[in-house]
Amino acid sequence: MKVLVCDGMHESGVELLQAVEGLEVDIPGEITQEQILERIGDYDAMVVRSRTMVTEELLKRATRLKCVGRAGTGVDNIDVAAASLGGILVMNTPGANATAAAEHTMAMMLALARHLPQANQSLREGRWEKKKFMGTELHQQVLGIIGLGRIGAIVADRALGMKMDVLGHDPFILPEAAAIMGVELVSLHDLLARSDFITLHTPSTSDTRRIINRETLQKTKWGVRIINCARGDLVDEEALYDHLMNGHVAGAALDVFATEPPVDNPLLKLPHVIASPHLGASSHQAQANVARTIASQIADYLVYGIIRNAINFPSIRPKDHERIRPYFLLAERLGCLLAHVLSPIERLEIEYCGTELQDVSLEPLTQTVVKGLLDPIMAEKVNLVNAHLLLKERQVELVASTTSKSCGYTGKITVRGKGKEGWFSAAGTVLPGESIRLVNINSYRLEAELEGVNLLVQNLDKPGTIGFIGTTLGRYEVNIANMHLSRTPDKERAMAIIRLDEVAPAEALEALQEHPNILWLRQVKL
Ligand code: NAD
Ligand code: MLT
Repeated sequence: MKVLVCDGMHESGVELLQAVEGLEVDIPGEITQEQILERIGDYDAMVVRSRTMVTEELLKRATRLKCVGRAGTGVDNIDVAAASLGGILVMNTPGANATAAAEHTMAMMLALARHLPQANQSLREGRWEKKKFMGTELHQQVLGIIGLGRIGAIVADRALGMKMDVLGHDPFILPEAAAIMGVELVSLHDLLARSDFITLHTPSTSDTRRIINRETLQKTKWGVRIINCARGDLVDEEALYDHLMNGHVAGAALDVFATEPPVDNPLLKLPHVIASPHLGASSHQAQANVARTIASQIADYLVYGIIRNAINFPSIRPKDHERIRPYFLLAERLGCLLAHVLSPIERLEIEYCGTELQDVSLEPLTQTVVKGLLDPIMAEKVNLVNAHLLLKERQVELVASTTSKSCGYTGKITVRGKGKEGWFSAAGTVLPGESIRLVNINSYRLEAELEGVNLLVQNLDKPGTIGFIGTTLGRYEVNIANMHLSRTPDKERAMAIIRLDEVAPAEALEALQEHPNILWLRQVKL
């Protein structure tokens, strides 16, 4: 499998990828967007930082691509929706550069407070301007942090160390959690009104874009200082410029810009603005950390199917993955069985029971059932990433649940589907040695392998019926490998699962269905 490293990557990540058997790693150095578009069709995975734009067009050309690894946090350069539809996993490395970004924020705040870049420049130009660069201390100043996630929390910790009073605004954090950080959780309005310094640490979302705008700036203290080391579009740059010009904002420290690199950005001409070229994550430690993290995530996904830190798929811890690993095949086969029996399907229900399937995220197994269900009937590539989207597109209702009730197995998956002809259900388990077994079809109990070509036959339990099936298949030269039988307690009806060595032709199935004792039959290729 081939991996394309687009925007450069710390050597420790490259080495990690190169050491994985079966992975071929290409590091073309400076590669243009056009060159990536031309070559992407050859690759199974790509690693990007923020330069490469992973657009819908690129993803369409990426016919082999299984995953995009972002060596960093923000995925604004990746069309995640298009990747999901195409079944391409998008992963990032949350937290791996958080310390670097938080330290950069502290450096920016201190530099802003003490005019360090301006003083440095002045001195180099031969001046000794002590009065001009009178600064302000951070001690006992109020810092308002918008976004108390990984970076915001580290900034809070460092700011408390500098003896600042720290306020935080984050609608997704509980006051108790903020209190443990030593942060007073307040409304945005309060934070704006009380802070001497405001620092931004949210992702760019429809709620946070331009969160610092004309209106919110009006609510800040006269003389406030703004720091943005998150994303450029969190700030309305024009409004900030005007408030810097009229003195309402005393200074701003910007690591990120609405357009990067900035072109003729008037903010960069103001003496009380200090800036850096998106350096938040640019420490040796952070770059090594993000590179190693994304490299091992990509290798785990390509080689073992383990998903971590995916933007478009729920993560699963390696030890949980190991526990439920044998159930993936069972889940896929049960989904596939349902596809052969019920099509189209209107509603899908999945139930998990047994100790092995408790206290673990079962979302990946649910997606696997859906993949098994859709794969045989869809022309496009179906995988764990796009399965739920494709199911939604087909308006199929999905309900997955776990029960702690005993089911007689250490792990059992039951899938139930509703189609035009009513409900059909199948359940399976994993036996010691990891072989999978079908243990129920509707209310029939049995124990059959879930593989190969099978005939599912429901019949009246009358003498001669099974003999008729065998003779008819024989007439069409279809060999029976094995057979599992089950019947209702009143001995009225029976279900047979007949494993065939080859696919039975349509004429053989028609001949079977002519027998009055045969109520229903389906051929299933697993
Ligand atoms: P995170 O996901 O850990 O934290 C983000 C926080 O923002 C969360 O706690 C979330 O609840 C909060 N949030 C979301 N919507 C909000 C809203 N409307 N108001 C207030 N809070 C809200 O992310 P992180 O790792 O801390 O990264 C934060 C930002 O920093 C991201 O935009 C990331 O891309 C950026 N970043 C920049 C650099 C750099 O080089 N300058 C480096 C790393 C990360
Ligand atoms: C990130 O989101 O990780 C940062 O912006 C740093 C980077 O782009 O590498």
